Amino acid sequence: MVNTIEIEKKGFLDVAIDPSLDLFEEIEKLKKEKNAVLLAHYYQEADIQDVADYIGDSLGLAQHAEKTKADMIVFAGVHFMAETAKILNPDKKVVLPDLKAGCSLADSAPPELFKKFREKHPDHVVISYINCSAGIKALSDIICTSSNAPYIVQSVPKEKPIIFAPDKNLGAYLIKKTGRDMLLWNGACMVHEMFSMEKIIRLKIRHPKAKLLAHPECEEPILKLADFVGSTTGLLKFSQNDPSDEFIVATETGILHQMQKSSPNKKFIPAPPTNSCACNDCPHMKLNTLEKLYLCMKYEMPEILMDESIRIRAKKPIDRMLEISAQYGL
Ligand code: 13P
Ligand code: SF4
Repeated sequence: MVNTIEIEKKGFLDVAIDPSLDLFEEIEKLKKEKNAVLLAHYYQEADIQDVADYIGDSLGLAQHAEKTKADMIVFAGVHFMAETAKILNPDKKVVLPDLKAGCSLADSAPPELFKKFREKHPDHVVISYINCSAGIKALSDIICTSSNAPYIVQSVPKEKPIIFAPDKNLGAYLIKKTGRDMLLWNGACMVHEMFSMEKIIRLKIRHPKAKLLAHPECEEPILKLADFVGSTTGLLKFSQNDPSDEFIVATETGILHQMQKSSPNKKFIPAPPTNSCACNDCPHMKLNTLEKLYLCMKYEMPEILMDESIRIRAKKPIDRMLEISAQYGL
């Protein structure tokens, strides 16, 4: 019935679902039956966000994964996020609706190349953005996310040189923000590099009162133009607390669902990409669907598994990040 070789090939379970089932109800039932918690990133499709127990940014999701008492963690996000949950919970089952939900940023840093790069700079402290594989985490000293990155950078003693990987845009933003020089790995997110500066400027002319909100994975000219730069949670909070009625949002479009839900009278305009494509939708995040989510909860697969020695080495820099974040009340 369930063919594991096929799951490996396709990345997900391909089993027919009775069309008369109410998947929202079925997912709620499965959560109770299996003592499962459903964690979702803001970039997931609206239906998945609506059925999640917790929706958050990368830091919030890691913090929730660390403290959950559930037996099974169902991760509606991308592979590195589910992997982080597994690193923190070796004894729990962690499932991801589609194993092929990867990340261009994580893919830009293959561990074997990064190991050589690190060996060339043995005196450097390695800070890695959480958007990387367990293999890269195992080669890092501290992990950061977009919501705690400035604190993590400042936690490194001033005399210590720093390598920052894999996101060059976030790295460049942090150099400016903290005044710390860092050696940057040349990686980037395919979604956040797609925004068209010209189209954003045109939008700003048409909506002169709209504030531009941007994720720090965007390129420098967009960050310079932005009224506020922050993680997905940071952008959401800003949109809730700021008195403006209109916002242009330069990050993946999934976040607009929560923005619109919590501020129904405000207008949210997705920042346009360079082509007429929907490139501001992350193709990896959007591989997860409600149907795949239901099947992965029902059959408890595809499961995240990893080599124990990598897991142990990858956990140390994540623990360090969680400690520093707790110190600052993040
Ligand atoms: P945050 O969730 O930390 O804002 O990061 C966004 C992102 O690109 C996740 O893949
Ligand atoms: Fe990776 Fe970018 Fe997609 Fe986030 S939005 S998962 S950084 S490709």
